Amino acid sequence: MSAVGVTLGSTLLFFSVFTVVSAVQINITTQSGQDVTLTCRVTNNITAVEWSRANLGQKNVFLYQDGGFVPNNQHQSYKNRVALRDRGMKGGDASLILKKATTADSGTYKCRVFLRETRSWKFTIINLRVDPPDQINIKAVSGQDVTLPCRVTNNITAVEWSRAGLGQKNLFLYQDGGFVPNNQHPSYKNRVALRDRGMKGGDASLIVKKVTTADTGTYKCRVKIAETGSWKYVTINLNVSPDQMNITAESGQDVTLPCQITNKISAVVWSRADLEPKNVFLYQDGRFVPNNQHPSYKNRVALRDRQMKGGDASLILKKVTTVDSGTYKCLFEIEETRSWKNITINLSVPLDHKIIPAESGQKVTLTCRAPNNSKRVKWSRADLRDKYVLLYQDGHLNPDNQHPSFKSRLTLQDRQMKNGDVSLILKDANTADSGTYMCRVFMEETRSWKLLINNYLIVVPPGQKMNIKAESGQNVTLPCQSSNINITGVKWMRSRMEGEYVLSYQNGNFERDNQDRSFKNRVDFLDIQMTDGNMSMIVNDLTPADSGTYMCGVFMEETRSWKYISYVRLSVTDRSGPTGGSVAVIIGVSAVVLVVGFLIYKRKRRSNTHDDPEDEQPLSPQELVGD
Ligand SMILES: *[C@@H]1O[C@H](CO)[C@@H](O)[C@H](O)[C@H]1NC(C)=O
Ligand SMILES: *[C@@H]1O[C@H](CO)[C@@H](O)[C@H](O)[C@H]1NC(C)=O
Ligand SMILES: *[C@@H]1O[C@H](CO)[C@@H](O)[C@H](O)[C@H]1NC(C)=O
Ligand SMILES: *[C@@H]1O[C@H](CO)[C@@H](O)[C@H](O)[C@H]1NC(C)=O
Ligand SMILES: *[C@@H]1O[C@H](CO)[C@@H](O)[C@H](O)[C@H]1NC(C)=O
Ligand SMILES: *[C@@H]1O[C@H](CO)[C@@H](O)[C@H](O)[C@H]1NC(C)=O
Ligand SMILES: *[C@@H]1O[C@H](CO)[C@@H](O)[C@H](O)[C@H]1NC(C)=O
Ligand SMILES: *[C@@H]1O[C@H](CO)[C@@H](O)[C@H](O)[C@H]1NC(C)=O
Ligand SMILES: *[C@@H]1O[C@H](CO)[C@@H](O)[C@H](O)[C@H]1NC(C)=O
Ligand SMILES: *[C@@H]1O[C@H](CO)[C@@H](O)[C@H](O)[C@H]1NC(C)=O
Repeated sequence: MSAVGVTLGSTLLFFSVFTVVSAVQINITTQSGQDVTLTCRVTNNITAVEWSRANLGQKNVFLYQDGGFVPNNQHQSYKNRVALRDRGMKGGDASLILKKATTADSGTYKCRVFLRETRSWKFTIINLRVDPPDQINIKAVSGQDVTLPCRVTNNITAVEWSRAGLGQKNLFLYQDGGFVPNNQHPSYKNRVALRDRGMKGGDASLIVKKVTTADTGTYKCRVKIAETGSWKYVTINLNVSPDQMNITAESGQDVTLPCQITNKISAVVWSRADLEPKNVFLYQDGRFVPNNQHPSYKNRVALRDRQMKGGDASLILKKVTTVDSGTYKCLFEIEETRSWKNITINLSVPLDHKIIPAESGQKVTLTCRAPNNSKRVKWSRADLRDKYVLLYQDGHLNPDNQHPSFKSRLTLQDRQMKNGDVSLILKDANTADSGTYMCRVFMEETRSWKLLINNYLIVVPPGQKMNIKAESGQNVTLPCQSSNINITGVKWMRSRMEGEYVLSYQNGNFERDNQDRSFKNRVDFLDIQMTDGNMSMIVNDLTPADSGTYMCGVFMEETRSWKYISYVRLSVTDRSGPTGGSVAVIIGVSAVVLVVGFLIYKRKRRSNTHDDPEDEQPLSPQELVGD
């Protein structure tokens, strides 16, 4: 973007009167924040120069006349921002330096010079375009060698590379013809080098070897220009991602496994340790190669960017289930260096839980999504021992060992089980149907059954469904009563939970380890003796986030399984009026069919937080180009 040679051979000459007929035009492009030189040069001696711009009315940008700068008519926006490159305009140089250009400075400038010898005016038109600030952002992976670009069009006599947060230390300093190690930060010792030792052609780019996540930050390259002795700089944001990471996703989500650098990637193999030699996804020679893909990923994976533009080899994995959990590897080839790098990602998709409250007589849906084209799927219930709820094998339902209570009451939600949907519809539910329904899929690789989802079904007689309304700040009691008074285990759960339970008691212990964090120190049994089977729970200091469906389960010694016997819908509103101490308990006898879908167990988790690079105020930016 620097100076463009000017030829004024065809410039028209005028006497005093200035009219635009035609002129030499120069286009100059620069970046916001940079200083830019508007070039205007003649071969004669100059006695006056006027810089003006369209749309400034009677005001000018800069005027030099009768041996000095004439500020009277200068437009406000150029005050203290413009200066002649050469105060004496020696050799006919009337070029103007405009400091810290902004996009608002874009426009058509006119340079008019008065030639002493010929006593005539000459002019040049300059179209200036100021682009918005452009940050140089570099993405890399731990272990990679990274080039931080810094190039000018001039010759360089010194370069200093620094980074925000290193105090007085630098990364690299080259001065007086050599590397100056005195002030180098120890973490960069023997790890940095100029791409071109001689900085030929103005290349002061720096190679940082074997970057780590600790190298993430804002870097600054300052170069001293040989011709002018002035300094120019550029800032670069470097973001180094770890080559090992953990990602947790919710069942049913689409997940992006990140794998991105700034360099161009020519090939990538995504694989999973336990499925090798099959791969998850292969991209080579400009296209997806399906040959060796594991069948469970067919039609389910895609690159975030089809062409891997900008070095993005991240993979999108659609509708994950817990069986997608595993150690994934992104092995990619960097085109420029023909070298291979890899990233390891542990994906964890926790077992899905769903709480299904219902009233007897209702139709309920037990949901389960298995991997596409699963060959064997089994539904079972903890307390039914060797009888199962449903078995699907080799394309058929197998009725041999089905528990008799489900005969003629069960149907598949989708007979074709498209997209692995093996959800069940149970008609005419009764209280004896309450229990934990587990859906498993048979994994061919490990020859074992893998649990996909727990459906906690709780069926209560009509009228026993409870709705409790409360306000934030209050304490509330959620009732639960068992007919069995010999209680060895109680568990309170909620439709949305981060932990395993809200409150739990088993074999004489009040468990705390896997309690949902949001209930810590806020819940307890109303009667810790649970006299007469009273397992009611008190929740203190309510917040609106406590709203949801709660259910209470009791451990059945005979079957060694959990039976859910009570459910409560709690809604907590933000307190608006004056403080109310007591809680209104409204036992709903509504006959409205409960919308089961509303109760899907959803966990909100955030993964992939990323660090923002440190910010830094520019000092006095000069024109500079990046790569
Ligand atoms: C300057 O840019 C304009 C378009 O913005 C173009 O038409 C013209 O040819 C350019 N002139 C020069 C000298 O590059
Ligand atoms: C400019 O002026 C100097 C002296 O003031 C003179 O020597 C020189 O010849 C002039 N240049 C031209 C191109 O007229
Ligand atoms: C850089 O220096 C070389 C020789 O030292 C010179 O030939 C060249 O013109 C200079 N380049 C610039 C852009 O000034
Ligand atoms: C990933 O999770 C495991 C536990 O599952 C933990 O030990 C490890 O430190 C985690 N690694 C990272 C990079 O967070
Ligand atoms: C990922 O899981 C594997 C096997 O479970 C383990 O060896 C490895 O340390 C884990 N990696 C991370 C980053 O947690
Ligand atoms: C993956 O990267 C690690 C560390 O950079 C390296 O030790 C390992 O050999 C690489 N594995 C493959 C298959 O390239
Ligand atoms: C399951 O497979 C079918 C046919 O191969 C495909 O059309 C569908 O998109 C797949 N669904 C999922 C969720 O992978
Ligand atoms: C809730 O219970 C706690 C602990 O028993 C008590 O300190 C607090 O005053 C109660 N709050 C209300 C609003 O009753
Ligand atoms: C449980 O016991 C408390 C007092 O200990 C009582 O207020 C409550 O009504 C009882 N709940 C049931 C369902 O019996
Ligand atoms: C309660 O259950 C325990 C464990 O099964 C058993 O040992 C005990 O006899 C039972 N007590 C009563 C009163 O039923």
